[in-house]
Amino acid sequence: MLRAVTAPFDTVRTEQLTKLYGRTPALVNANVEFRAGEVTVVAGHNGSGKSTLVQLLAQLARPTRGAIRYGSLEGRAARPHVGLLAHASLLYPDLTGLENLELYAALYGRTLDGVRERFELGAFAERPVRTCSRGQLQRLALARALLSEPTLLLLDEPSTGLDTKGVARLASAIRAERERGAIVVLVSHDRAFAADLADRFVHLERGRVVDADEAA
Ligand SMILES: Nc1ncnc2c1ncn2[C@@H]1O[C@H](COP(=O)(O)OP(=O)(O)OP(=O)(O)O)[C@@H](O)[C@H]1O
Ligand SMILES: [Mg+2]
Repeated sequence: MLRAVTAPFDTVRTEQLTKLYGRTPALVNANVEFRAGEVTVVAGHNGSGKSTLVQLLAQLARPTRGAIRYGSLEGRAARPHVGLLAHASLLYPDLTGLENLELYAALYGRTLDGVRERFELGAFAERPVRTCSRGQLQRLALARALLSEPTLLLLDEPSTGLDTKGVARLASAIRAERERGAIVVLVSHDRAFAADLADRFVHLERGRVVDADEAA
């Protein structure tokens, strides 16, 4: 496992993590550990709490009870070290893809050197994001999530809308992140894709962790 010496944490642990939406228990007493240099696949049926867990890990939602420990960091202090690819692309629709990435890179004190080649962002990246196709959006969103070299990379259904080549490109990007030493959390309904990448599985059922295992 190669790990950047500057990584601010190398495990993320949830402790009795609970999120209630009104009376809906979206996540209940979840105790899970995610580790550097590993891809943990979070699996479960629709509505089992996967996206809720991702949103909590991303500090985009507050737990009803429980805590998340990012090494010795807690709460919003971890936010700059998190990369998120979720349902919302988090891109400004009237800016081009590259302008979006430039803005985001500037926030993190990075440049876009090599990013275009690395993510094979073609001419579509020079058009306003609102004109991009679903798959093109997903590719930009992935570039955005990886740009800051996050310590914790959260991917919620990242293969949505991607063609075969796009899925292969995504899989190799995820492997490269694991090699880099990122803590990767992957939610995917594509079983073959997930199984191919998984070092460990966490299974959720109606908001509860029913099984947290090493991959076979
Ligand atoms: N903002 C919200 N307000 C109310 N209920 C919510 C909210 N977000 C999620 N829920 C509920 O919490 C439960 C878990 O939802 P979540 O989105 O985490 O499921 P999921 O496992 O990601 O499902 P899917 O596979 O369909 O993406 C569901 O019952 C859902 O309806
Ligand atoms: Mg979901």
